Amino acid sequence: MNAPGTIRGGAHAAVGHDSAAAHVTGRALYVDDVPTVPGTLETALVLSPHAHARIRAIDLAGALAGPGVVAAVTAADIPGRNDIGPILAGEPLLAADAVTCVGQPVAAIAATSLDAARAAAQRVVVDYEPLPAILTLEEAIAGEHYVAPPQEMRRGDVAAALAAAPHRLAGEFRCGGQDHFYLEGQVALATPGEAGDIHVLSSTQHPTEVQHGIAHVLSLPFSAVTAEVRRMGGAFGGKESQATIIAAIAALLAWKARRPVKLRLPRDDDMQATGKRHPFLIRYDVGFDGDGRLHGLDLLLAANGGNVADHTPAVVTRALCHADNCYFIPALRFRGLACRTNTVSNTAFRGYGGPQGMFAIETILDTIARTLGLPLETVRARNYYGEGRDVTPYGMKVEDNLIGQVTGELDRAVDLSGWRTRIDAFNRTSPVIKKGLATIPVKFGISFNRPALNQAGALVNVYTDGSIALNHGGTEMGQGLFVKVAQVVAEVFQVDIDTIRLTATSTGKVPNTSPTAASSGSDLNGMAAFAAASEIRTRMTAVAAAHFGASQDEIVFAANRVYAGNRSLAFAELAALCWAERVSLSATGYYRTPKIHWDPATMSGRPFYYFVYAAAAAEVAIDTLTGESRILRAELIEDAGRSLNPAIDRGQIEGAFVQGAGWLTMEELWWDAEGRLRTHGPSTYKIPGSRDVPPVFNTRFLDTPNREATIFRSKAVGEPPLMLAIAVWLAIRDAIASVADHRLVPHLDAPATPERVLLAIDDLRARAAR
Ligand code: MTE
Ligand code: MOS
Repeated sequence: MNAPGTIRGGAHAAVGHDSAAAHVTGRALYVDDVPTVPGTLETALVLSPHAHARIRAIDLAGALAGPGVVAAVTAADIPGRNDIGPILAGEPLLAADAVTCVGQPVAAIAATSLDAARAAAQRVVVDYEPLPAILTLEEAIAGEHYVAPPQEMRRGDVAAALAAAPHRLAGEFRCGGQDHFYLEGQVALATPGEAGDIHVLSSTQHPTEVQHGIAHVLSLPFSAVTAEVRRMGGAFGGKESQATIIAAIAALLAWKARRPVKLRLPRDDDMQATGKRHPFLIRYDVGFDGDGRLHGLDLLLAANGGNVADHTPAVVTRALCHADNCYFIPALRFRGLACRTNTVSNTAFRGYGGPQGMFAIETILDTIARTLGLPLETVRARNYYGEGRDVTPYGMKVEDNLIGQVTGELDRAVDLSGWRTRIDAFNRTSPVIKKGLATIPVKFGISFNRPALNQAGALVNVYTDGSIALNHGGTEMGQGLFVKVAQVVAEVFQVDIDTIRLTATSTGKVPNTSPTAASSGSDLNGMAAFAAASEIRTRMTAVAAAHFGASQDEIVFAANRVYAGNRSLAFAELAALCWAERVSLSATGYYRTPKIHWDPATMSGRPFYYFVYAAAAAEVAIDTLTGESRILRAELIEDAGRSLNPAIDRGQIEGAFVQGAGWLTMEELWWDAEGRLRTHGPSTYKIPGSRDVPPVFNTRFLDTPNREATIFRSKAVGEPPLMLAIAVWLAIRDAIASVADHRLVPHLDAPATPERVLLAIDDLRARAAR
């Protein structure tokens, strides 16, 4: 065979995001950019001003009388079921008899202009009877107010292990929530069609759930509803279930008005009406020996679920499945509470409880290490999973352990002990600015905890000019899923990636899809697209073999051509030939993740196909007079298997780290005594900016193929690196501890805002003086 050359953009190629130029030039079409037809209505929502109140009456007359107002809806207008609960039932789209949080949608107005809709929304009169509200996790725990039953994992006799342990510590600490702060807010454009059909463009990670939500609300068969999304301007979990609220209200108004309706939330409404990352309250009782080896851990993870369940039960499960992080704990009881409060229902957010679980165990280990006066890395290493200590609290064997590799390679690359010496030297001569250094190992399970969600479909069409249209169930939110799946198809056909056209995700093309979440987008959809493309390639191979009079195993796809020895056809010529021979050039592909199973009753099984490993070291500086902190340097290593696209993956790793650092250091959600969120815009809610990116920021890959047969032996990358930011949290604790010569354990909750850092320093100084 002659040397055929290579293709552009196959598997493992570091090609850029398909829409990178369109993103930065404004040419990328988001839902709000799609031209609307004349007659399209704009929407405003009426949101609850009360954390908890009975609705006595809703008077729409004044609103409907206003100029340009076409339709108004309340719960009473819903022809089907007023329920869009994604996991459990009982989650009204529009409040019916009562409101249970501030910001809950009560009514919606469609008008000929946005101004007219907003003015009309102001004129809706709701008669509320305020009721007592539960606003804190403590109240919810004390009163056993839950959105779902408590969950528990157990191993051995934890009480006996704690009683017999040479050392024992107990305590309580917490981490805050986090707004997704996607740049594109929640938005939907619903268009009524023929015979009651509804088509909706939705900024959703989960088109199938939008389809189901609308069908339930309007009492339609699923087949009558089509949900479509080309891309989102960021989602981060915030558009998994929350998008359904927006899309279903738009669809309800479109159904009522018989006209297209667009609903786009202003940022302040978006932040008040939609859920966030769960704040957690953590209580622990831990037993260990003088070497820092864990003997037993009794751990309580209480998540603030808000007013309804939404994703909370599953977030709690994932938190419990990550509270071990990289450590074998011989005796344990992990309890998870899905607490109900009268605040907006919290939801999926990058890591999905995993970050909170890992934050818990890492803060506990840091406390143990400081109490014993041992380096944290030493304590960790004594507790790592290893030979004979390799079963997780949920009964899954850790078969692919790379903890030693990632932490070892990081140490070799950055020389931790030299780095530590420089920090200590700096602190000795710097009375006001103090530096801290810390590391973190991460083990994150890949697959949805619920096995049924681990499936995907794809549709590949080859046209007779050789161009290829690719469609699959995954959604694009900036993470680079579309380009990765296109690389898979380019690899199968051995054609340049620009041959492949990426098309909008639609429930009408690939049905019954899972959300693009749990970092599994490329694992699942990459495999489904591989199956579809391989099927077509097999058919094309047969046509080529007949054409050349060769056997099928002599046919080689390479560099945009198809070869039999020295003879060849352009890929496009073979496509045209297939049509002439009446061979189908369209195929669907399907994939289901093997090996996984989960028993929710016993909280055990093999929920994850494999683990992703990562490690980081971060150096911070704090100002002991103002409490301000900065990340000075971050060194990351990520196990992305054989990365499908190292350029995309690098962006995911860096972005996730900075997003995680925002969660743990500066992003503070603040509710007042009436349960009103007072940080509902960028003026009061501080997310990391470009100057918060560490000035020294290095990312490395552990270039090891996945031992499981994932797509081209790659690994998922979307969520795990967020947890690397726990190194920043621990480094701030380290800097604070330096104020008392590392002899005491700082008391600190996350986020480590300047206020909290100052309070922790004051407290430490007071304790040191005693
Ligand atoms: N990256 C960007 N740019 N925007 C996003 O919204 N979401 C994250 C992550 N990376 C997100 C992102 C979350 S929460 C998940 S679960 C994954 O992407 C989902 O995509 P994947 O499964 O294709 O990795
Ligand atoms: Mo990501 S929180 O699983 O959408």
